[in-house]
Amino acid sequence: MPSYVYFRKKIIPLEQAKVGVMTHALHYGTGAFEGIRGNWNTAKKQIYLFRLKEHYERLLLGCKILRIELPYTADDLIKITVDVVRKCNFKEDIYVRPLAYKSEETTGVRLHNLEGDFLVYAFPWGKYIDVDKAKVAVSSWRFPKEIPRAKLTGLYITNALAKTEAIENGFDEAIMLNAEGYVAEGSGENIFLVMDGKLVTPGSFDGPLMGITRNTVITLAKNELGIETVERHIDRVELFKAEECFLTGTAAHLTPVSEIDRFKVGNGEIGPVTGKLQKLYSDVILGKKAAYKDWCTPVY
Ligand SMILES: Cc1ncc(COP(=O)(O)O)c(C=O)c1O
Repeated sequence: MPSYVYFRKKIIPLEQAKVGVMTHALHYGTGAFEGIRGNWNTAKKQIYLFRLKEHYERLLLGCKILRIELPYTADDLIKITVDVVRKCNFKEDIYVRPLAYKSEETTGVRLHNLEGDFLVYAFPWGKYIDVDKAKVAVSSWRFPKEIPRAKLTGLYITNALAKTEAIENGFDEAIMLNAEGYVAEGSGENIFLVMDGKLVTPGSFDGPLMGITRNTVITLAKNELGIETVERHIDRVELFKAEECFLTGTAAHLTPVSEIDRFKVGNGEIGPVTGKLQKLYSDVILGKKAAYKDWCTPVY
């Protein structure tokens, strides 16, 4: 099944979309991107795109930081995205990658006086962390201090270093500490601990991306299970005290963590709170829960 892309204001086959070697974003990391899931509901023969509005509001925040002026509102971007995905005609789980970037072919470190553009494409994508329970390691790479927290392409170098270090050392994912040594997040996910019946997760003051899945899980825990979430500093050593631990992200969904730095979390199995949240989350993203239908945009 061919993929399509919205590129230079037209929907064209993905393989035909090319950028020049001097493109600013390629050299200086001057892009803001998103990852959006389209979840295939077999019974309904439908793809539901999850929380498009929140993804595009975050993309536009990235554009503001990078001074990329797009001639589109969040609603325009949503419409373009639905059109691209419909054109692809996939009947499986997909991932959608929008990118706003400094498209001008010129050299020089700056953000001002540069043209920007927007593209979005979709492709079939199954599991991101391809295990039922992830083994994670605390990375030797720390978050830079005072980064503008949006999904900016140039910021992902530290995350990529951390991820590769973890994989090369035999783990599934990296947990990054911030400059002060507090737990921040995974290389592409937020982190939650279950402690004394509550969820505990780092707050924005510790630097993690304010994940849309993070927000979804906090909402579901509260509304559906009556479980509160505490946002606070998490010391590295608390990772070993947690009863349960899981990661959240658009790509990784809700991934249980069984081991941290080779120590088992709880008994190393998927804990009861994690299991319940995983089930709720998967029903919600497939459009099966009426109360959260507004988060799901049908494509067909
Ligand atoms: C570094 C990082 N943290 C957290 C997340 C989770 O964010 P979201 O749930 O919005 O996908 C992502 C993925 O987008 C990420 O790249």
